[in-house]
Amino acid sequence: MTFIPPLLYIISAILFILGIKGLSKATTARRGNATSSVGMLLAVVATLISTGVVEVQWIIVGAAAGALIGFLAARLVQMTGMPEMVALFNGFGGLASLLVGWGTYQGAADNALVGLGNFAANPSEFLASLGGSFSSATIFAAILIGGVTFTGSLIAWGKLSGTITQKPVLFFGQNVVNSLIVLAILAGGVWFTINPDYYWVAIAATGAALIMGIMVVIPIGGGDMPVVISLLNSYSGLAACAAGFVIRNNLLIITGALVGASGIILTNIMCKAMNRSLINVLFSGFGSGTGGGGGAGIQGEAKSMQPSDAYYILEAASSVVVIPGYGMAVAQAQHAVRELAEALEANGAEVKYAIHPVAGRMPGHMNVLLAEANVSYDQLVEMDSINPSMDTQDVAIVIGANDVVNPAAHEDEGSPIYGMPIIDAEKARTCFILKRSMASGFAGIDNPLFFKEKSYMIFGDAKATVESLVGEFKESAA
Ligand code: TAP
Repeated sequence: MTFIPPLLYIISAILFILGIKGLSKATTARRGNATSSVGMLLAVVATLISTGVVEVQWIIVGAAAGALIGFLAARLVQMTGMPEMVALFNGFGGLASLLVGWGTYQGAADNALVGLGNFAANPSEFLASLGGSFSSATIFAAILIGGVTFTGSLIAWGKLSGTITQKPVLFFGQNVVNSLIVLAILAGGVWFTINPDYYWVAIAATGAALIMGIMVVIPIGGGDMPVVISLLNSYSGLAACAAGFVIRNNLLIITGALVGASGIILTNIMCKAMNRSLINVLFSGFGSGTGGGGGAGIQGEAKSMQPSDAYYILEAASSVVVIPGYGMAVAQAQHAVRELAEALEANGAEVKYAIHPVAGRMPGHMNVLLAEANVSYDQLVEMDSINPSMDTQDVAIVIGANDVVNPAAHEDEGSPIYGMPIIDAEKARTCFILKRSMASGFAGIDNPLFFKEKSYMIFGDAKATVESLVGEFKESAA
């Protein structure tokens, strides 16, 4: 029967790989999620069987408790709270790896009769009981990467939820302080690997890792959070991978590596979407500029329009592009938006949804919302595909999007988002911008789109505005 856990591990690993493959396309994402869940269930069962101490009833109780917590979390968390939840998930993954590292270290120390703060009577014996210097190195890696991931994710959660400032926190000599912490961690790592019986090195390294997590994320602000979230996701995978080596669990090594690698690929996609290098994101303090929130630095006047007037332009349009952003999630306007699209289509217009890779607050945020509202996947068009035809579109309706349609990315060399690819809403024959005020978006910078000749602001909550537009169509049809 000893072959069962490894066999289940192999099946789980295959299911995880198939699951990730499924997640790469909107049409197969649900199946991919279900496939990975089955893989995880098998992995948990195999691990519990292989420990030999847990009986089946505990497996059932654990699975039921996990399912209940997962069900409640999925039901209770608002769509707008998902990014924060993802940040917390990453952080708890890191904390788990840190605890696995410490637990294994403590267990070996107890076996070698080394109390906290004492040195082993025979350090080399202690190292051997730990499993040699490879084991001490992996314990150090699990503690280090887990600690950085944990506090880094808490800071990311704070920034996303607005609990702490979203602006980069920069201070004189920051890079020097960070470099000194990194050097101290490296020196501690070498020391601990060779001679792990120095408890205080492990304690100091844990403290340094926790501080490092904070230091890595506080200088990053505004629009760069997508990169940070995906990078922390990758770190949580690497931490799990290191924990897998610590407890010699092949499946944890495989899953950690999968999460680490996919997180890095996602980080790369996010960097490309923002036309920034990772080094630039991590060290440049994007968003620390003084760009105001009210459009004060931009010349010109923004024109506004009532939904009842906008209706006449939409009624005459034969092609409409909906550009959703974070405000659509806040307003929960996705169902009303689908209704508006249906009214436009019934009126003979072709409707597409232009999706920017970093619209919203998490990768795929807009896709998830629109899928929830049963918008057909065929109508979703990526930024690179829609941009070449934007100037042939009759109307662009920007719904709660701001940074991802900000032409300062093309026009203003001094702008922090200069060079970032955007959806060219300004090129459509008419551009409606649905938002509540002239306030800036997540990156905290002014948006010249509001002041363009063909732009019209339609102020108000996005859901209420879209519903008024739908009402106009219904009224005219009646
Ligand atoms: P934002 O630039 O954040 O703009 C959202 C706009 O929605 C705001 O200007 C706000 O203006 C409006 N809004 C808020 N509530 C509204 C409501 N109830 N009704 C109507 N409008 C409402 O959004 P975006 O264009 O989607 O850009 C995303 C930004 O977030 C980027 O800077 C991106 O880098 C960053 N970010 C993205 C991610 C990922 S992975 N997607 C993660 C973290 C950060 P009013 O207040 O005037 O209404």
